[in-house]
Amino acid sequence: MADIILGIESSCDDTSAAVIRDGFLLSNVIASQDVHKAFGGVVPELASRAHELNIVPVVSEALSRAGVSRDELTAIAFTRGPGLLGSLLVGTSFAKAMGVALDIPLVMVNHLQGHVLAGFVKQPDKENRHPSFPYLCLLVSGGNSQIVKVNSPLDFEILGQTIDDAVGEAFDKCSKMMGLGYPGGPVIDRLAKQGDPLRFKFTKPHIPGLDYSFSGVKTSLLYFVRDEMAKDPDFMEKNKEDICASFQKTLVDILMDKLVKAAKETGIKEITIGGGVSANSGLRARVEEEGRKRGWNTYLPEFKFTTDNAAMIAIAGYYHYLAGERCPLDVAPVSRIADF
Ligand code: KG4
Repeated sequence: MADIILGIESSCDDTSAAVIRDGFLLSNVIASQDVHKAFGGVVPELASRAHELNIVPVVSEALSRAGVSRDELTAIAFTRGPGLLGSLLVGTSFAKAMGVALDIPLVMVNHLQGHVLAGFVKQPDKENRHPSFPYLCLLVSGGNSQIVKVNSPLDFEILGQTIDDAVGEAFDKCSKMMGLGYPGGPVIDRLAKQGDPLRFKFTKPHIPGLDYSFSGVKTSLLYFVRDEMAKDPDFMEKNKEDICASFQKTLVDILMDKLVKAAKETGIKEITIGGGVSANSGLRARVEEEGRKRGWNTYLPEFKFTTDNAAMIAIAGYYHYLAGERCPLDVAPVSRIADF
């Protein structure tokens, strides 16, 4: 009999539900929350309330698009963390209630594991290429900047991570301070395509090992823009494409330096990226370029699997389910990966 898994994701500001049958994607519904735009960042309390409004219609829509009835589900996989506690509580509580009502097992998923396994979601009529184990995943989003070594679907190690801001946060905060809008990543990416990446230089951090830091480069950009605007109030407007291109190049350089180092140190040449920032055109181009130069096999996720989505939670949950893992009803969500 087929294993049909319903995945539920609610760790940040996207409410998502997906259905997979034996690893094949049947549906993946994502409701984004526009309510945060006015604030230039995710407001946790508003996110939880929006999840509450969205969760029932999103799950119903995922089941209906999949052509699957509730009674056909084998198990429910949900994101336990890390993420915003209030948001996670909505998905976790919903999953538990639905699991009890249908008398089917629950499987809990680490959000990061979902991102690193996103490439394993199989789609009908697609090539479905995915990396072989062990592989390295550069996981970059609004909350994460990590290099993860993935040994098997259920075994992964974090080799390096940010000691301060996540790279997506650097995109978002700088965009907000420069008055370019939210979320910052896509805006900066778009403007960067029309600019000169070599025109301006921003400070790069010197962090030992495979860890990252993005707060210095963020401050370097903000002081630079502030000082130039004091001399010429139109500086930003006249140069925004070059500023964005140079800033994006700096972030991509920082990410790639450590990814190259990790690949050399581990000898691993199977390389993938994940998380919202993996949609960045500059990063994608650099991963492919380094890959060609260094003989890596590179795997870039489809755009729909870069940001938070329940398909990746369903596939990670599927592996946990196959391994016999079941989640008790008293499990609580966790905000930090260290508590998982
Ligand atoms: O994975 P994700 O949806 O959730 C969070 O962890 O928040 O990632 C969202 C992040 C935001 O910081 C957003 O600015 C960034 O991904 N992002 C991008 C691009 N598209 C989204 N950053 C750079 N370039 C992009 N094209």
